[in-house]
Amino acid sequence: QIKAVIFDLDGVLTDTAIYHYMGWKMLADKLNIPFDEALNEELKGIDRMTSLNKILARGNIDLSEDDKNLLCDEKNAYYVELIKKITEDDLLPGAKRALIELKNKGYKIGLASVSKNAFSVVESLNIANFFDYIVDARTINRGKPNPEIFIACAEAIGVKCHECIGVEDAVAGIEAIKRANMFAIGIGRRDILIKADIVLESLKDFDIDKLT
Ligand code: G6P
Ligand code: MG
Repeated sequence: QIKAVIFDLDGVLTDTAIYHYMGWKMLADKLNIPFDEALNEELKGIDRMTSLNKILARGNIDLSEDDKNLLCDEKNAYYVELIKKITEDDLLPGAKRALIELKNKGYKIGLASVSKNAFSVVESLNIANFFDYIVDARTINRGKPNPEIFIACAEAIGVKCHECIGVEDAVAGIEAIKRANMFAIGIGRRDILIKADIVLESLKDFDIDKLT
């Protein structure tokens, strides 16, 4: 029996995935590293330093830890500037309705984003009150596709993993949900999110009664 729904943030509740993409593209261009759609899909859901390492590997570039930290800071400063403008209007179609419906029907709601900017984005979107638990990315040792963040969220909410639905737009995120032994809803394209239990085009199609 389903008792909780755990959402990813970027690309699921709001379209910040595009801002992360813009930040990484800016760095890749600067370093003359080709940045295609496939690489971008690989980066979705992946923490900041691991993302940079993947981009550098693509360009066969080796940098010191100090230089890598500077690049991460540069990408984040760019991202932070972009998300300053976020308001409630930036919730993706269906997101608010899904949260309201889940709350009204007594489901627990969690947020599992590895983004260190997640709290600030949630505040700007004005949806903090909906969540029974928001994972602090700083407390997570192994990012997605490791299931740690989803398992930690379920534990904090007080439900078993098999009583949870996870909602994700990233390949790494779907893998994390499945490894956590949860039901996985993909938001996006079926041909990309092949491991998801079901794939919806957007949260507009989210219907908890049909799922349970
Ligand atoms: C999310 C996004 C990734 C992003 C990561 C880290 O998982 O999907 O694209 O790289 O968070 O975000 P941060 O804000 O900590 O750099
Ligand atoms: Mg995402």
